Amino acid sequence: MGTITGAPSLVPTLPGRYYTDPAVFDAETRRIFERSWMCVGRADAVSQPGRFLRTEVGGESVLVVRGRDGEVRAFRNLCRHRGARLCTDESGTVGTSIRCVYHAWTYGLDGRLVAAPNMRRMPDLVKEDYGLHRLRAEQWLGYVWVNLDPDAPPLAAQVEPQVAARLSGLDVLDRYGIDRLGAATTIVYDVESNWKSIVENFTECYHCPTIHPELTAALPQFRSGYGSISGGGASLAEHVEGFSLSGKSARPRLPGLLAEDERLFQAIVLRPNAFIILVPDHVAFFRLEPQGPGHTRVVVDWLFDREAMAADDFDPSDAVAILDITNRQDFEACRRCQLGMRSSAYRGVLVPAEHIIGDFHSYYLDALGDAPATSQQPTPADTCEMGAP
Ligand code: FES
Ligand SMILES: [Fe+2]
Repeated sequence: MGTITGAPSLVPTLPGRYYTDPAVFDAETRRIFERSWMCVGRADAVSQPGRFLRTEVGGESVLVVRGRDGEVRAFRNLCRHRGARLCTDESGTVGTSIRCVYHAWTYGLDGRLVAAPNMRRMPDLVKEDYGLHRLRAEQWLGYVWVNLDPDAPPLAAQVEPQVAARLSGLDVLDRYGIDRLGAATTIVYDVESNWKSIVENFTECYHCPTIHPELTAALPQFRSGYGSISGGGASLAEHVEGFSLSGKSARPRLPGLLAEDERLFQAIVLRPNAFIILVPDHVAFFRLEPQGPGHTRVVVDWLFDREAMAADDFDPSDAVAILDITNRQDFEACRRCQLGMRSSAYRGVLVPAEHIIGDFHSYYLDALGDAPATSQQPTPADTCEMGAP
């Protein structure tokens, strides 16, 4: 029997109801998703005036539209007359104005009410009072980020400390020129798992030797179970040319990268809903859309240099395959945990290789504030082993 010293190896993770209880998900919606900058989609989905994308941010349907002046604006997807949802398609074009299909109230691309049937018979209608509800929107890394909280600090205040902590500064991200890359492939995964399990899984590599044979073949460091949790990335295996299923590289490294990036795999979580993977010839960008306590939609874009994409022989499939296989392995593991977390006997623990997840839990519990009232029968697992209220 070994000598036990210092901090315990096994520390409790969040109680099961944090992953399964609709009351917790409702609290997360109000206190996290509706107060944070949420990554909602690619800016080039709204490349032209009149192009829109529709998304959910927390409990709200949101419309992102590029105006005639080129500005990208976000609005609640809500007609000011009697509340009809203005756009139901996921993306498309509204033309030169946004017209409600119910009684034809019509808004400019800047959200102002411009026309309504019989408007002359409503001389007291002040058009300025009935524009669309504007939301804060910013663009970064070629993505649109929306915040429902009018008082939240700017996006930079949310993301820059995370980038500094993980990649030791913004210049690493700058080198990859993510905002200039194009999306060659997008895959949407419907994952039967709580969003936090997906963040946790992306944060630790304890599972890598068990479930990721392809990934660990490319990144032997991941066989240790510690991945690159201490930062600095992981090196591609010696026999491997690039991060792809075959191990071959079909493209030169991205313009702007340094020799030191040539054989490096790096990854970052941008709480609450984005992850980025950086490899020499492409970038994978993950966006989480929490749908409910046990359901998360994960949208992954594989981003490449636009010049490389224009080549006749451009083929991203080998690069996509290694991560797609890895994602499916991860999401199946998350799904299995979701099933287990319903058990009244569930009491998860984190091993030392997973203690880094505690940083996420600290952020999460701080953002959540007071523990939400349970909407289920309390179980022994609801007792707060983590210090959560
Ligand atoms: S609800 Fe939109 S015009 Fe009436
Ligand atoms: Fe994984």
